[in-house]
Amino acid sequence: MKKYMALATALCLALSLAACGGSTSSSSAAASSAPASSAAASSEAASGTASSEAAAGELTTVVSGKLTMSTNAAFPPYEMTTDDGSFEGIDVEIAGAIADKLGLELQIDDMDFDAALLAVQQGKSDMVMAGVTVNDERLAVMDFSDSYATGIQVVIVPEDSDIASIDDLAGKKIGTQRGTTGYLYCSDTPENGGFGEDAVVAYDDGLTAVRALLNGQVDCVVIDNAPAQSFVESNPGLKILDTEFAVEDYAIGVNKGNTALLDAINAALAELTEDGTVQSIIDKYIPAE
Ligand code: ARG
Repeated sequence: MKKYMALATALCLALSLAACGGSTSSSSAAASSAPASSAAASSEAASGTASSEAAAGELTTVVSGKLTMSTNAAFPPYEMTTDDGSFEGIDVEIAGAIADKLGLELQIDDMDFDAALLAVQQGKSDMVMAGVTVNDERLAVMDFSDSYATGIQVVIVPEDSDIASIDDLAGKKIGTQRGTTGYLYCSDTPENGGFGEDAVVAYDDGLTAVRALLNGQVDCVVIDNAPAQSFVESNPGLKILDTEFAVEDYAIGVNKGNTALLDAINAALAELTEDGTVQSIIDKYIPAE
C-alpha cells in the first residue's frame, strides 16, 4: 500500500540517479535492478560501428543460423499475434533488428510467460523477450541485456469501482498474469506491502485476467501500463487508476553465463538505440501523447 508508493519513488530515484551517473559500470549495475546505462550504451556504439557484427562471428545459438526468442505473445503492444497468425509488436521488431545485425534469422516461440522465462534458463531458447522486468529473483537465474524500455505496474478497475487508490486494494480480489512482477508484488505478505497469496488470482495471460474482471470474478487487475492501455481501449467499461504501483526496466534475458550472446545483443542494441531505430519502433506502437 503506502510501501508501494515508497517503492515506486525509490525506484524512480534509483533510475534517475542511474541515468545521471556516468560512472555506472555494467557489472555494478547488474547487481541493482537497473542494469540500463545509456551512457555506456552510447559510448559503445560510438566506439565501433561494426561491433555487433564482429561479436556475432563466434556465436553459437540453440538452432544454428537462428536467433530463437521465447515470448508470450499476449502482451500488446510488445508482442501479439496478427489475424494471419504471425507476430508483431515492439519486442518482435526490436528482436528482428537485432537478429539482422547478428546475421541470424529470428525464430519466435510463443508460450506462457513463465515458460518463456524458463526456456532461456534451460537452454531451449537463446533469449526471452516479453516485456520482461529485471528484478533480483530473475538476475539470480539469468543474465539481462541493457534495458530498452520502461514499464509501470498499474491497476485496472471497472469504471464504477469503489477502488480509487492502491490503499483500497486491501480485502479485494486481485487478478494478475502468472509469473509476473504484478503477481509477485500483490501476493507478497502485508508486511512487505503485498496483500497475501489468497487475495491474488493468477491467470494464464493479461487478457484472461481482464476477462475475469469484466465477469466480476476479480475486483481489479494489476498489470504493465502499455498492455493495460490496450486492454482498456478494446474493452469498454474499464479504467486505469492514476496511482502507479512500481516503475520497472524491461530487458532481454539470456542463459546465465552466455556472455558471447549477451555482448552481441548489447552491441546490436546500442547501435539500434544510437541510430534511433529502437525509439522509432516504440513510437510506432505507442504514439506520444
Ligand atoms: N513486466 C512483467 C514481468 O516481467 C510482465 C511481463 C509479461 N509479458 C508477457 N509477454 N506476457 O513480470
